[in-house]
Amino acid sequence: MGEIVRLQKYISMSGAASRRAAEEMIENGRVKVNGKTISEQGVKVEIGADKVMLDGKELKINEKKYYIMLNKPTGYVTTVKDQFGRPTVIDLIGGEISSQLFPVGRLDYDTEGLLLLTNDGAITHKVTHPKFHTDKTYIAVISGGITMSGLHKLRHGVNIENYKTSPADVEILDASASKTMLKITIHEGRNRQVRKMFEAVGCKVIGLQRVKIGNIELGNLPLGRWRHLTSHEVNYLKNL
Ligand code: URA
Repeated sequence: MGEIVRLQKYISMSGAASRRAAEEMIENGRVKVNGKTISEQGVKVEIGADKVMLDGKELKINEKKYYIMLNKPTGYVTTVKDQFGRPTVIDLIGGEISSQLFPVGRLDYDTEGLLLLTNDGAITHKVTHPKFHTDKTYIAVISGGITMSGLHKLRHGVNIENYKTSPADVEILDASASKTMLKITIHEGRNRQVRKMFEAVGCKVIGLQRVKIGNIELGNLPLGRWRHLTSHEVNYLKNL
């Protein structure tokens, strides 16, 4: 007989989500055990005997952990499976390994750049949970220019949807009459946060690329390609 664990623990052991996020997934009816949707908490499952599915994908407990970085192009959704059938970041990984991986956080459909994927739920938690303050750096292109007051607001925190962002590091990299390129580092990672921050100061983002998570850099990995993280990078993430 396999070990018996609570369903949310099983989900986090599979690497799909943290335990807290797993509880939400259960509550939202996204999890099935042996073909039956489970939406109440507290259900227990047996590892190796019960079949647990999330959004139609079977979750397996695998001792071997994978850590990958992808240079995500625009036009791909950051989920394992898309309800509208759009291409997903998992499609870009391909091969046997792809069935084991989950995206670490999210990049919008129209954002490109550095995305981590793993089956190590502890790493996902550290990179995505605001309490760990893992910096994320983006190159944003906005249409037109930005005022000194706009820059000042971004650097000190702006209100987006009843929430004040923490101060961001912002630097102008290049500017022409029609657009401006900036580097922005934020310490949280709310939904569409960078776009909303620029919107809050009257600027429209027309291109967005993530180039860094903590001190892990995208470097010159070509668009649409992926690689395994080095042991140095994996150790860095484990020690966040
Ligand atoms: N902020 C955004 O607005 N979009 C992303 O994809 C990531 C951060």
